[in-house]
Amino acid sequence: MFQTTPSHQGISDKFIKHDSKMLKQIYGSDQLTPYWIADMDFPIASPISQAMQQLVNREQYSYEFDSQTVFKAIAHWNQQRHQLDLNPNHFVQVPGVLSAIALLIRDFTQEGDGVLIQTPVYHQFRRLIESAGRKAVTSPLKLEGDRYLFDYQDFEQQLSSGKVRMVLLCNPHNPVGRVWTKQELQQLVTIAKKYQVMIISDEVHADIVFEGARFTSMASLNYDNSLTIIGSPAKNFGLNSIANGYIYSDNQALREKIKASSVSMSLDHGNAFSLYATIAAYQHGKEWFEKFLAYTQEVRNWIMAFMAKELPQVKAFLPEGTNQIWFDLSGLNLAPEQLKELLSQHAKLALTPGTWFGEINENYYRMNFASPLEKVQASLQQLKTSISQYR
Ligand SMILES: Cc1ncc(COP(=O)(O)O)c(C=O)c1O
Repeated sequence: MFQTTPSHQGISDKFIKHDSKMLKQIYGSDQLTPYWIADMDFPIASPISQAMQQLVNREQYSYEFDSQTVFKAIAHWNQQRHQLDLNPNHFVQVPGVLSAIALLIRDFTQEGDGVLIQTPVYHQFRRLIESAGRKAVTSPLKLEGDRYLFDYQDFEQQLSSGKVRMVLLCNPHNPVGRVWTKQELQQLVTIAKKYQVMIISDEVHADIVFEGARFTSMASLNYDNSLTIIGSPAKNFGLNSIANGYIYSDNQALREKIKASSVSMSLDHGNAFSLYATIAAYQHGKEWFEKFLAYTQEVRNWIMAFMAKELPQVKAFLPEGTNQIWFDLSGLNLAPEQLKELLSQHAKLALTPGTWFGEINENYYRMNFASPLEKVQASLQQLKTSISQYR
């Protein structure tokens, strides 16, 4: 049995996902069920809670760090789960995945350089690139049948222009849910090598991969000019607000450079909660994680079956990984404003607008399904009713 609701109900929080001001600003209403943030609704694994309870009981927070235990635990986890051999001495710790990306953009590109993203993609990528004074160069994914694929021809064309200095890869891909295969990644690496462009691989969703798909880390592809963000326990263990980011590279020169800039900005100062939470997650979280993965796979399967049978006008792309599902609602033949009204005023759902992810039309929305099945069922039933009653 997987526990889907916390045992301590009624404790207040300041979660962004149901923040009234934010919901009103984005959707014009706060009376919505939130599915817009990639954030699970479930209670975390009990070994992590226990580790943090002990820390609370300790009542002391001296400077403290133990990155060797963390890196060993993450390396062991990756060996067991993905047969990925990582050297515990080849990690650099930073405060989070996004700060890792921000740091790497600054360390390895110059102002005005192009950083390539494959759209639609996690919206913060563009923000991080542009706020660092770099140019976001897009190479849209191409849709073949029901699957999004890399567009190698366009990718090569962009790289051959000489303006792109870095590729920011989302692996697995948020929002379209693809888990890139080894062959697909190898082909990308071949082109990047040819033009000597660095690849940064954001692998925060690496563990959330469903039956039939297999995760391949950039770290296993022997590309010297690449850095892998081995994620953090944010998405796989539901620790979004206390996780760290871990950058990995077997290239010593790259690592030294990252370490130096991380230290220069004092980003290497850890936080005791994330330290103990991360160790507990990777050392003792396996049982919980497997239940979580099986549960969200069941939710995914239910959504796919429901959409195919009950709402065939809405196209749902099968997530091979991640807890996000990508919908194309063009088949409803509604104007963008009507679609927005239908979703937020009638179905009362806060889904992430597809336009956030770049170069996609307003008929696309993303839904986070790391939620109790009954809740998802009620919401999609409500969507079906709203569609049938809408003008
Ligand atoms: C692809 C991707 N990278 C990074 C993040 C955020 O990472 P962090 O909160 O650890 O900075 C997310 C969160 O949704 C994500 O989907």
